[in-house]
This record gives sequence, structure tokens and C-alpha cells, in this order.
Amino acid sequence: MKIKSSRTLGSKWTKTQVLLMNKELSRFVPETRIYTRDALLSMLKKHKMVYVKPVNGSFGLGVIRVDQINHNKYRYQAGTVTRSFVNFNDFFVSLNKNKFKKSYLIQQGIHLLTYNKRIFDTRIMVQQGPLKKWESTGYIGRVAHPNKIVTNFHNSGKPLPLELLLGSYLKDEKKKSYILKLKQLGLQIATQYQKNRLGFKEIGVDIGIDKQFVPWILEVNTAPDPFIFNQLKDKRMFHKVLHYARANGRFVKAK
Ligand SMILES: Nc1ncnc2c1ncn2[C@@H]1O[C@H](COP(=O)(O)OP(=O)(O)O)[C@@H](O)[C@H]1O
Ligand SMILES: [Mg+2]
Repeated sequence: MKIKSSRTLGSKWTKTQVLLMNKELSRFVPETRIYTRDALLSMLKKHKMVYVKPVNGSFGLGVIRVDQINHNKYRYQAGTVTRSFVNFNDFFVSLNKNKFKKSYLIQQGIHLLTYNKRIFDTRIMVQQGPLKKWESTGYIGRVAHPNKIVTNFHNSGKPLPLELLLGSYLKDEKKKSYILKLKQLGLQIATQYQKNRLGFKEIGVDIGIDKQFVPWILEVNTAPDPFIFNQLKDKRMFHKVLHYARANGRFVKAK
């Protein structure tokens, strides 16, 4: 596949294909298909739970969780609204009414870890520093609003220290080394994008952790928001992330 070099890339489909070119990384990519009726049927049959999302989207807008409950019972949640159906056709017609963008993809759903019964995922910030060397500069956890299926800060999610969110699952050294593993995964992803000559200087990786602690790559952002790190009480990560972002030409005030 040939991809035009650019500073940012919107298409979640293209960004997924770049990950799949790397065998090691492809293990952490949830199965992804372009949204069609047939693809939805077969993905539900296989995974029972999937996420449907706009190919070009952000802030968790338009992201829908779909569950197949038993052989003829289907349910979806969009925003805070949940609807159930007892046949596929009615379900499919209703689901399509929630689609406001041109193209969508279907992704294998990951059963995310929870904090106080709310799902959470992780954002890993990877940036080019001085000498153009990639560094994992930040990591943060994001807890979903109790009635939502997305964790985005701009969709009522709450950013919190990852150490806190992982606290009931992993302790001390185990927790430290798991976070280190996530940071290394972020670096590997950045290297994979660079190999394909994509001109990004920063990426923000959304990683969903399942109950077996598999770090699934849910999304790679190419214009990641540094300001989410300002939500942490400890400002050290935020200062570094913003410093690097500015050095990379972002958020520089015009004189
Ligand atoms: N396959 C998935 N399994 C579980 N949760 C998911 C999945 N895909 C997305 N999510 C949830 O929805 C959020 C938004 O999805 P994402 O793909 O990051 O799109 P956006 O560009 O809108 O942020 C994620 O941060 C995560 O909380
Ligand atoms: Mg995201």
C-alpha cells in the first residue's frame, strides 16, 4: 500500500492498515472491517461485541457499541441511548439511523478494565524530541462517564493517573513494568509509521486493556491533544509534552 506522506492522517482505516503491515503490532490490533451489513453480521457472530465508528471521526462522536446477546437478540448504545431488538433487520435499520457520516468501520470490541465500575482506557503520547528521536513522553488513563461507552475527555470522560486506575489489578513493580511495556508499544507504533515515511512528529495512541492485560491498539491519533495532561495534579508530564509539542511547531503563538 502506498500512502501519501503527511503531517496528520484522519482515516482510521488507513492508520489501521499501517499497523497491520507490522506482524508484531498486528497482534494488538482488534479485527477491523469496513461497515457493511454482511460484515456486521459476521463480526457479531464472531466477537459478540463490536464498536462501530466513523472512519473519519474524533472525540468519540458517532461511536456506537453493538452487542449480540443471543442468536436473534441485538442491542446497541449510541451516546447514552440503548436500544434492543429481536431481529437483525429491525436492529440494522435502527442502527443506520444513527449514522451521520459517510463511511464507518466495525472493530472487534474489547472488554475494557474498569475503575469504580466505569470502563477506562489509556492514552500514550509519543513525540519526536530534540535530534528527532522518538520518546514516550506521557501516559494517562481516561475513565468513561458511567452511562457512556467512550472514554474521551471531550465526551464526559475523566482523565486520571494510570497508576491509580491500574491499582486494583497490578501492584508496585508489576504495575511499573506494565506501564513501561505500554510506553514501549507506543514507541514501536511511532517507528512503524515512520517506516512508511509518514511525516508525523507526534502520535497519541489509545490503548484498551482487556481482562488478560492484552494492550489493544484502539486508535492512533496524529494530532494528539497535549492539554489532557494538564488534568493531572502532577504537572511534570504536561510540561514535557507541551514543551515537545511547541518544539515540533505546534501551539506556537504567532508574533
Ligand atoms: N474496539 C473497541 N473496544 C472497546 N472500546 C472501544 C473500541 N473502540 C473505541 N472504543 C472506545 O471509544 C473511544 C473512542 O474511540 P476511538 O476509536 O478512539 O475514536 P475517536 O477518534 O472518536 O476518539 C475509545 O477511546 C474507547 O474508549
Ligand atoms: Mg480516540
